[in-house]
Amino acid sequence: ALISLRQLLDHAAEHGYGMPAYNANNMEQIHSIMEAAKEVDSPVIIQASAGARKYAGEPFLRRMIEAAAEQYPDIPIALHQDHGSEPAVCLRSIQSGFTSVMMDGSLMPDMKTPSTYDYNVDVTAKVAEMAHSGGVSVEGELGCLGSLETGQAGEEDGSGAEGTLSHDQLLTDPDEAADFVKKTKCDALAIAIGTSHGAYKFTRPPTGDILAIERVKEIHARIPDTHLVMHGSSSVPEEWLKIINQYGGDMGETYGVPVKEIQEGIKHGVRKVNIDTDLRMASTGAVRKFLAENPKEFDPRKFLKASTAGMKDVCKQRFEAFGCAGMA
Ligand code: G3H
Ligand code: 13P
Ligand code: NA
Ligand code: ZN
Repeated sequence: ALISLRQLLDHAAEHGYGMPAYNANNMEQIHSIMEAAKEVDSPVIIQASAGARKYAGEPFLRRMIEAAAEQYPDIPIALHQDHGSEPAVCLRSIQSGFTSVMMDGSLMPDMKTPSTYDYNVDVTAKVAEMAHSGGVSVEGELGCLGSLETGQAGEEDGSGAEGTLSHDQLLTDPDEAADFVKKTKCDALAIAIGTSHGAYKFTRPPTGDILAIERVKEIHARIPDTHLVMHGSSSVPEEWLKIINQYGGDMGETYGVPVKEIQEGIKHGVRKVNIDTDLRMASTGAVRKFLAENPKEFDPRKFLKASTAGMKDVCKQRFEAFGCAGMA
């Protein structure tokens, strides 16, 4: 059954677990998430970006999630819209049946220019008022995602702020976070702590100076009742990186957010952990490997099954590591 993000994260806070929020664009991703959740008895958050809606088409996306809820009636599903660039985008998702929306007011509608604080408060409060009247939850974002090593937003496909971000923009301020939540009434808050979207987050295994888990603790101490969200939280598994490169890929050396750092965040108020890149890597690695090892195969179901299995494995590992297994 579909439930709101607020209901799910309130349960997570009460029981001290975190929820991976997986991005989905196609049936195989949704299958992998649901199969893993069923095996470990976890609730799920499936999130779709504007890009996902464009890729699948709104009716397909909506009906694939409806199909997931129908096929797995015992698993609670929060259907969340990731990174809404303006209130109108959030409204379309609400109309389409999403139970939660993210109004990303940290950036202007072009999604490339950092916004002012007042703009962010204004659009987020507007979406919260509209969403809450229909029982839909709202995630806001304060601070800009980006690397503390380089000041860049990351993301090879160009989503995220352009230009160099200052240290202040890259770390959410705890007092400002308290004011923001009070003024906007958002249900969950995405914070900036040095993570960035995509595979190239850190040039070395991250230490506290480039992945500021301490900042999570400071923000949580200031707003203990707000569910915190970590974006850019793929771990960039070394084993999948190796498989991709072993079977014809060419990805550079890179490091993600270690699972044990995420677990530390979960101890301090992180309830939603956004993961897209890890499933992309598992899917690509599994398909490359399958096709390389089975050169005579041309039935797409065969390599897509390998893709599903690879992603499902990652999903299961995160459900178990974040403490949501057994919580459905
Ligand atoms: O915001 C980043 C997520 O990984 C979604 O990516 O916009 O390419 O679907 P996307
Ligand atoms: P990753 O690129 O680390 O998977 O982050 C995804 C994300 O934050 C989606 O909003
Ligand atoms: Na989101
Ligand atoms: Zn994100």
